[in-house]
Amino acid sequence: MNILVIGGAGYIGSCTSKALAEAGHRVTVYDNLSTGHRDLVKWGPLFEGDILDGESLRACLRKTRPDGILHFAAFSLVGESVQNPGKYFRNNVGGTLSILEAMRDTGVRNIVVSSSAAVYGTPKTMPITEDAPASPINPYGETKLFMEQMLADFARAHGICWTALRYFNAAGGDPDGETGERHAPETHLIPRALMAADGCLPDFCVMGDDYPTPDGTCIRDYIHVSDLASAHISAAARLLQEKDGSGLSLNLGTGTGLSVRQILNAVEQTTGLPLHCATGPRRAGDPPSLVADASRALSVLGWKPEHSNVQDIIRDAWNWYCIDKAKKH
Ligand code: UFG
Repeated sequence: MNILVIGGAGYIGSCTSKALAEAGHRVTVYDNLSTGHRDLVKWGPLFEGDILDGESLRACLRKTRPDGILHFAAFSLVGESVQNPGKYFRNNVGGTLSILEAMRDTGVRNIVVSSSAAVYGTPKTMPITEDAPASPINPYGETKLFMEQMLADFARAHGICWTALRYFNAAGGDPDGETGERHAPETHLIPRALMAADGCLPDFCVMGDDYPTPDGTCIRDYIHVSDLASAHISAAARLLQEKDGSGLSLNLGTGTGLSVRQILNAVEQTTGLPLHCATGPRRAGDPPSLVADASRALSVLGWKPEHSNVQDIIRDAWNWYCIDKAKKH
């Protein structure tokens, strides 16, 4: 396949670019480097541009003539989306609209889009199937839902073929240590816990231990970024083969929930370092538990997680953390 990876200089986009290249596919990255990193674009040329720039997108699509697009370019911090919703609607919704219009104008048919468990808000039943009501509780989740709705409308009107992949908690790093998570600021549990174990994060804390869960801390479904990458490749391949191209939203998770405390124990075991952390108040908007039922991805894509046990996730995240830290010094 000849694939345009929009947002390919970021965490999940760069890991997927590597997986595509290793599987023999052709990769071009489109990224404005606002949160992505030039040095993580290693598996194909970089076309520097913004998703809000329709002219630039059209030029890129005409030049590269991709069989399909993987679209990772979105802001993804829940707290920031509450503080600054305009930034999220402009980039995530407006940017996706601009990509869809550029596809319509240039005849590019297939797109796989990053969606999120955030579309479900605070679901009533666990594990969560795709049939659970979409009811986001923050602007970030709303933008992901709007993106999915635009895909369906463009499919009806213009024959765009799409899949939206609803990630649960993306985690881990490239097992070879060639790319991984590099956010500023870092808000996610596992990289923050690793920074704390390494002595680089004095204010790390467990955000709430009074949730209605067995140990009082939040439960999440952590999915290795390599498993996310393989799902994207399968989803793109399916779109290329599909005749009718009916759109689909699919959960990507393991079906197993882990609490914050369980993650912190695994961090101590894997790094061999003690993790001293306080307990703080709940973070606004955190649902107590989010666990995927990903059986539809298995039946439609033949996809299942292969790398998502907690030891592998923490080992690969820690390996990448150490490599990336050494590069900065
Ligand atoms: N947590 C801590 N301490 C920290 C950081 C996080 O205790 O320093 C806790 C959070 O309260 C939460 C859990 O660890 O209970 C996981 O938090 P993350 O920030 O790692 O991940 P989220 O579950 O909040 O976010 C993920 C994705 C988002 C997506 C969201 C949907 O990263 O993109 O799921 O709910 F929007």
